[in-house]
Amino acid sequence: MFVTVEGVEGAGKSTLMDLLARALESRGIPFLRTREPGGCGLGASLRPLLLDVSSTLDSRAELFLFLADRAQHVSETIRPALARGAWVLCDRYADSTIAYQGYGRGMDVERLQALNDYATGGLWPDMTLLLDLPVETGLARARARNGREGLTQSEGRFEAEELAFHQRIRSGFLARAARWPERFCVLNAALSPQMLYKQALKALGLSD
Ligand code: TYD
Repeated sequence: MFVTVEGVEGAGKSTLMDLLARALESRGIPFLRTREPGGCGLGASLRPLLLDVSSTLDSRAELFLFLADRAQHVSETIRPALARGAWVLCDRYADSTIAYQGYGRGMDVERLQALNDYATGGLWPDMTLLLDLPVETGLARARARNGREGLTQSEGRFEAEELAFHQRIRSGFLARAARWPERFCVLNAALSPQMLYKQALKALGLSD
């Protein structure tokens, strides 16, 4: 089972991933928790290039770095885990490229769909949990977190974008969810972490 968690900045993906990882552990289900960018050796090197606010990446270069990370991540980490029967829980994946580089930066969405197909060898998640909330709320949360963790300078390149950019991303994610309703489960991320978790468990068929 390949599960991805997606959403705008500050939607609460990490907290939900922590809770889901614990749920799988307590049920004795083997799983791999990973993320993009940075879920494999190559991605760890690419991450600073992609997220550092001082980097001046061309948007096509940015796209191909995300795709390179994904191609390596799929072949080195995700496919082997699925092949040994583990669940894969991944924080962001191809839908983020289409939302951020497509809807956010204005690149052609159908072309990005095809490039993602190519990069992943056609591997799409079985289930995508989309954490949806107003972007103002998410950005406020993300900035508070970055301030606490001292990440403002090193990893804030996307968070520093204007509000309209994030609004396009939110609409982009929702448009994808409407197009693939059987794969996507849209969750209200303005809810408390526990409520969100309960809804996610239900969507994954893991409720007690
Ligand atoms: P990260 O620090 O992992 O933040 P988050 O907690 O929001 O996931 O940063 C990843 C950033 O990269 C995030 O702002 C979204 C962006 N991104 C893309 O633009 N395209 C992509 O394909 C992926 C995977 C992420």
